[in-house]
Amino acid sequence: MSSTPPQTPRGPLTSPPTATRTLRVHRLEQVAPQVRLVELRDPDGGRLPPAEPGAHIDIHLPDGALRSYSLCGDPADRQAYRIAVLNVPGGRGSRFIHGELEPGTTVTAALPRNSFRFDDAPRYLFIAGGIGITPLLPMVRAAAGRRADWVLHYCVRSAAAAPFLDELLALPHGRVELHAADQGRRLAVDALLASAPADALIYCCGPQRLMQAVAAAASPTQDVRFEWFTPPAEAARGDASEEAVPDGSFEVVCARSGVTVTVAAGTSILEALDAAGVAVDSSCEQGICGTCETTVLEGEPDHRDSVLSKAERAAGKTMMLCVSRALSARLVLDV
Ligand code: FES
Repeated sequence: MSSTPPQTPRGPLTSPPTATRTLRVHRLEQVAPQVRLVELRDPDGGRLPPAEPGAHIDIHLPDGALRSYSLCGDPADRQAYRIAVLNVPGGRGSRFIHGELEPGTTVTAALPRNSFRFDDAPRYLFIAGGIGITPLLPMVRAAAGRRADWVLHYCVRSAAAAPFLDELLALPHGRVELHAADQGRRLAVDALLASAPADALIYCCGPQRLMQAVAAAASPTQDVRFEWFTPPAEAARGDASEEAVPDGSFEVVCARSGVTVTVAAGTSILEALDAAGVAVDSSCEQGICGTCETTVLEGEPDHRDSVLSKAERAAGKTMMLCVSRALSARLVLDV
């Protein structure tokens, strides 16, 4: 089990540890003053596993930490994965990506996961803040490819600091609204959400403040999908009115490994399973990346993550073991 806050989260069903792969840095490019594009390929030139828009890979840093980065390349390109990484002062991932990588460097990466899924819709509203454009870029390309009606609101400090802006501006069937702070153009979130078409599927990724504003402005009937960098405040998730459930103990049965554990108050399922020798992949351990998502075979999860949609929570088929608990006395998991 690994434990680190991710820079750019997400990922789907996991029970056994995720397969890793050695990748080689093929190309590096400065796509904005503080943003470095990294193109990774199989060292032997082989095809890479597919990755849908919204997917990310987890890169193992030399010190053992794990960092998640959204894939921003073309999902149809099976020869390369591309990530774009903001240089965050003092960040371990930034230090590695910006300071240590060179063409030819090999890295170990977990294969793509995706819990920021791109679904079909007649029209899309994308809202990106800064480096939050990375998971949205393949979605905007896909929307344009499907001839869907799309609008991207792209909030940046300046046009010069907006990675991929030229490519986005050239995409058909939609438009980019640039909100550059140095030009005094700030996004009016409330007005934007209030005027969004009823059938628009809304995707948002960016700084916490932007996403919380979007979450707060969205009506209950609007379908808004977020890629959280850090756990959102309860109020911003719209959960403030939901009754808090106390942290009681419950039993977890691991169907595959045959292990049964009691998860005590104050202990996560992930921790309880780890102590019992049942390995489950994890990354953020804050309920935001999706790495520990696990299939629920029986029982009722108490979802406390920021990954699953309302519909997915209601379905109760999967849960995040790092933060979520149980409403039933017993859960049976596919681990
Ligand atoms: S480890 Fe990230 S959601 Fe559980």
